[in-house]
Amino acid sequence: MNGIEPFHVMALLARAKTLEAQGRSIIHMEIGEPDFPTPRPVCEAGIRALQQGNLFYTPALGLPALREAVAGYYRSRYGVDVPARRIAITAGSSAALMLALSAIVDPGAQVLVSDPGYPANRHFVRLLNGEPVNVPVGPDSNYQMTSALVEHHWSERTVAALVATPSNPTGTVMVRDDLERIATFVRSQGGLLLVDEIYHGLVYEGETRTALEQRDDLFVINSFSKYFNMTGWRLGWIVAPEPYVSAIEKLAQNVYLSPPTTAQYAALAAFAPETLAILDQRRDELRLRRDYLVPALRKVGFEIPQAPQGAFYVYAGCGRFTADSFAFARDLLEHAGVAVTPGVDFGSHRASEHVRFAYTNPIDRLQEAVSRIERFVAGA
Ligand SMILES: Cc1ncc(COP(=O)(O)O)c(C=O)c1O
Repeated sequence: MNGIEPFHVMALLARAKTLEAQGRSIIHMEIGEPDFPTPRPVCEAGIRALQQGNLFYTPALGLPALREAVAGYYRSRYGVDVPARRIAITAGSSAALMLALSAIVDPGAQVLVSDPGYPANRHFVRLLNGEPVNVPVGPDSNYQMTSALVEHHWSERTVAALVATPSNPTGTVMVRDDLERIATFVRSQGGLLLVDEIYHGLVYEGETRTALEQRDDLFVINSFSKYFNMTGWRLGWIVAPEPYVSAIEKLAQNVYLSPPTTAQYAALAAFAPETLAILDQRRDELRLRRDYLVPALRKVGFEIPQAPQGAFYVYAGCGRFTADSFAFARDLLEHAGVAVTPGVDFGSHRASEHVRFAYTNPIDRLQEAVSRIERFVAGA
């Protein structure tokens, strides 16, 4: 357990709640979930499932109709044929990541993860008695792994590399050729590539392409949480290489028996055209927020070498104001009422010089946040 860290931002969130209870106005830019409610057609499908009382366990890999619906989504949105039998519905992509890693990590095996990156991955590897290898990434590679970095960090004990595109915390998207080069190298070493596509659908420049378009010998992880605005329903999915499906099934049976049933019935409405129309409108709203926030933060003095291309995060250098981004986040909350996530939550590479802003607030709140931050750093 000593190798597993909590999400440090939770301490700031608890403090933010205390301040709010005392009547202080707090602008929340620390939480990694959309501020939009679940689209109505999805809620209505969930209500219908509750009313019909069809709430027994489903198969461990999920409702066959939902696996088919996900396969249909790959066809209609990406033009890619993914057989439903390779799709496992999971309890959030958190469980998807845990199951996929469990299927491939033996004790002592190494998995490459990017630093900064989503922290749970390295903790999952650790929990499996594997060894997460942090690969430092920065602006020179758009905060993404490259095949050169993967080759440099690969060892005889490495079994997999895990990438996320768009990434949390940086919102950057990996270019297609880089992904293909990494996949080819990993394969040549007899390893596996896991691609976390949980922020797909929230990309503001260019087309979103899934790694499945290029090959089928990799794991793709996705979720209903972010683009589909269903964080609390706890539903995600894995597309596994065919030989791993039975391992995933066995693990899902043992770990949670079945993904949440009500959520699965609700999610059947997630791919309906009327739902997708709502979601795409919200994505456009997120783009407007990003287009406001990035230049506004730069003007205040944060370093943002590249504008993030997706997700709803800005990973910003705060080196001009502090050498300790955790203390900076704490003081910003106390004195300015703006909650952000310190870099330490995403790894150790230059973590103390960075904070993450989530633009999960309407633009007028973001404007208010920027004015508060401006006043705070002027007095800092
Ligand atoms: C990159 C990434 N992967 C996975 C997850 C897990 O999300 P969920 O379990 O809600 O699907 C998150 C959550 O923030 C994330 O940012």
